Amino acid sequence: MTHTFESWTAEHVPDQSGKTVLITGANSGIGYFTARALAEAGAHVIVAGRDIDKVAQAIAKIDPQRVSGTLEAGLLDLASLASVNTFATDILGRHSTLDILVNNAGVMMPPAAKTEDGFEQQIGVNFIGHFALTGLLYDRLSQTPDARIVTLSSIAHRGGIIDFDNMKLEKPYDPKREYYQSKLADLMFALELGRRIDAKGHKLLSLACHPGFTTTELQRHLDPKFLEGMSFMDTWQGSLPTLMAATIAAPKQGSYYGPDGPGEFGGFPAIGAIDDAALDADTAQKLWDLGQSATGVRFP
Ligand SMILES: NC(=O)c1ccc[n+]([C@@H]2O[C@H](COP(=O)([O-])OP(=O)(O)OC[C@H]3O[C@@H](n4cnc5c(N)ncnc54)[C@H](OP(=O)(O)O)[C@@H]3O)[C@@H](O)[C@H]2O)c1
Repeated sequence: MTHTFESWTAEHVPDQSGKTVLITGANSGIGYFTARALAEAGAHVIVAGRDIDKVAQAIAKIDPQRVSGTLEAGLLDLASLASVNTFATDILGRHSTLDILVNNAGVMMPPAAKTEDGFEQQIGVNFIGHFALTGLLYDRLSQTPDARIVTLSSIAHRGGIIDFDNMKLEKPYDPKREYYQSKLADLMFALELGRRIDAKGHKLLSLACHPGFTTTELQRHLDPKFLEGMSFMDTWQGSLPTLMAATIAAPKQGSYYGPDGPGEFGGFPAIGAIDDAALDADTAQKLWDLGQSATGVRFP
């Protein structure tokens, strides 16, 4: 930790009136609390999820009395590049501005599976799907004044290794190794995007964050015994690093936010520690090339 902000909470979110925000995987967990807080702050929030009934239920749970903004449902399956394309085309057709994109959706340690396009599910959803979505929406974001992209990583990025020979389940499946790889890829993506934005002279920010250990549906595939003795933050608190990245005034390009407690497991948002592996420029370049060739989306 290099800097803490005195117990920053959702009450510090500045007025978001007039802003359009898109959050992936916003029907549950951190995405849901992020959507709710930004709608309460006055934004128009697109709640995107892969199951439209779950999205509708999530929106219905938000108390309209507390919301000065508006909410919209979106159907997006990040395990399908066709779905990402259809969704992005629809968003571009209906929204002339896009102020904040939150690449939040994620899957952790599921049984072995591939995305529709043949990628191991965790790298496919957590990284490849978000790469395509960000690229397809990039021009709209960069044409919107003061826009930003926030990508969710994890403490798990620290143990990750990007293995370009194991993106499509070429090796025996190791759910933990594949999750760590995907969250390292998310952080490298956010940092490399920031560098590329700056190189182009575009006025856009790419930021990253992580929620420490937070109680959500993410743990659904884990053996409950594995979780015994671990302590998790409430979901509202785990959404704070995302809310800080999405709304804090004048952040530096490439900033990374996480909880300020020991090991960044819990606490209130602060600047988080980035593992050296995430700063490897050669791997970041190769990862970008992979994103472009896998999705056919070239940007910035
Ligand atoms: N909770 C933690 O302790 C923790 C720690 C580190 C990082 N994170 C990161 O935080 C982010 C949010 O996760 P969470 O903890 O809030 O878990 P969560 O409650 O399970 O939320 C994940 C969201 O992603 C959605 N999703 C999964 N696969 C998708 C797909 N193919 N297409 C579109 N959406 C999909 C889920 O939809 P369904 O409801 O339909 O499954 C859900 O809405 C993830 O990126 C995760 O890696 C969480």
